[in-house]
Amino acid sequence: MINVRILGSAAGGGFPQWNCNCANCTAVRAGAANARPRTQSSIAIRGQDEFAWTLVNASPDILTQLIANPALQPARTIRDTGLRALLLTDSQIDHSTGLLMLREATRPWPLWCTDSAFEDLSEGNPLLKVLQHYCGVSRQRIPLDNSWFGMDGLEDLRWQAVTVHADAAPYSPRRSASVPGDVIGLLIEDIKTHRRLFYAPALPSIEAHVWEQMQSADCVVVDGTFWSDDEMARSGAGSKSAAQMGHLPQSGEAGMIAWLDRLPVGTRRVLIHINNTNPILLDDSAERKTLIEHGIEVAYDSMEIVL
Ligand code: MLT
Ligand code: MN
Ligand code: ZN
Repeated sequence: MINVRILGSAAGGGFPQWNCNCANCTAVRAGAANARPRTQSSIAIRGQDEFAWTLVNASPDILTQLIANPALQPARTIRDTGLRALLLTDSQIDHSTGLLMLREATRPWPLWCTDSAFEDLSEGNPLLKVLQHYCGVSRQRIPLDNSWFGMDGLEDLRWQAVTVHADAAPYSPRRSASVPGDVIGLLIEDIKTHRRLFYAPALPSIEAHVWEQMQSADCVVVDGTFWSDDEMARSGAGSKSAAQMGHLPQSGEAGMIAWLDRLPVGTRRVLIHINNTNPILLDDSAERKTLIEHGIEVAYDSMEIVL
């Protein structure tokens, strides 16, 4: 069994974003019935053991997310957590700054990340150096050669990195010269049932090897950042296109919906890492209706997926 808990379903900035007055943010801030607040991109995954979660990405909202999800806080001893390991899919602010909030851990965190992410978080944004003065981390290298890796204490699941051709974080020395490992997706498999989850909160395009892995999964939880390429400009919230930000939009002939339509019939399709400007955040929008017609779900905070 693969158990997924969506801790944060929004992109960087969250929903509402603190300084944003776009139509969506204004509506959710006012408590509109057709929109629910969402925290920043993070999920937790476990197998059979209900107290052995892996946190996939550490959002700046992690403390709020842990309070909202008591299943991750078993309270067996005076200081306790249901989180057994941490894993990062990239070193972006929305996926990594929560590490500092987890500094009170009673032992070094097993931290699974690529060499790129480790380098960025040791040099460009040296969170890991700072953390060494608190709980520290026990760094575990994510391989990039399509091999499966396993985690201590989580023996019923195996993991595989899926490299994604996307820019490194804006602060990274490799920003304009990204290498494989700057951004990854994940394939997670239950070794007994062979049920598979594909998870990729940042997908600028669907490369052939990515598509192959998506097709092999029972459920895909993928980049839902933008509805359209010019969404930021159109809403007046910014000037960058979805492509420039490394996110494939949902609409358009070669957009995410068109790809998801081509998955095997039984595949569960879920969008995550949704930017606050995206009209799919409004439950009654035309764009949300389109997703429903295509059998595509929109992740929300505290959503559970069991495979
Ligand atoms: C992104 O996914 O594009 C970034 O995380 C945006 C950000 O939070 O700066
Ligand atoms: Mn992000
Ligand atoms: Zn907004």
